[in-house]
Amino acid sequence: MSFKQVWSVIVLGIAGALAIPVLADVVPPGTESEIRERLSPFGSVCRTGEDCGAAAAVADSGPKSGEDVYNQFCFACHMTGASGAPLFADVDAWAPRIDKGMETLMSSTLNGIGVMPAKGTCMSCSDEELQAAVDYIVEGSQ
Ligand code: HEC
Repeated sequence: MSFKQVWSVIVLGIAGALAIPVLADVVPPGTESEIRERLSPFGSVCRTGEDCGAAAAVADSGPKSGEDVYNQFCFACHMTGASGAPLFADVDAWAPRIDKGMETLMSSTLNGIGVMPAKGTCMSCSDEELQAAVDYIVEGSQ
């Protein structure tokens, strides 16, 4: 082998070693976002470690917040006063009820009271979710 041939073998070898990882990394620009765009009608692509934002919060069927329960179920009566329900944020209407203590308010909510149906119509709510809704009403009505 001539000196020149040895050099070209070395140079090609180095170039080859460099080219392998470089080629492996070559991805056409925009590919990832294009894939995401194509998949998005079926739900957003959400990988471990990523902040998946509101989409994940909706998909995750964790406990409802007190405010959510109130807005979905309690609102119908407690915002309008329907059937004589004490209005949300009506401090005078709530003061004597709050005085009865949380335990009484919760048992009224779970079992129903007067014309208010058991669980305030949220039959799928857990006790914790109903407690959160009562807390929300009480906090907003003091
Ligand atoms: C169909 C109408 C209606 C709905 C829906 C409703 N309420 Fe009521 N709620 C009432 C009425 C009416 C009263 C007053 C009953 C009475 O004192 O005779 C009341 C009273 C209450 C009280 C006071 C209980 C007490 O011991 O004084 C709480 C707490 C309460 N509601 C929580 C809720 C929560 C939480 C929800 C939703 C999960 C809800 N309510 C949904 C009608 C309703």
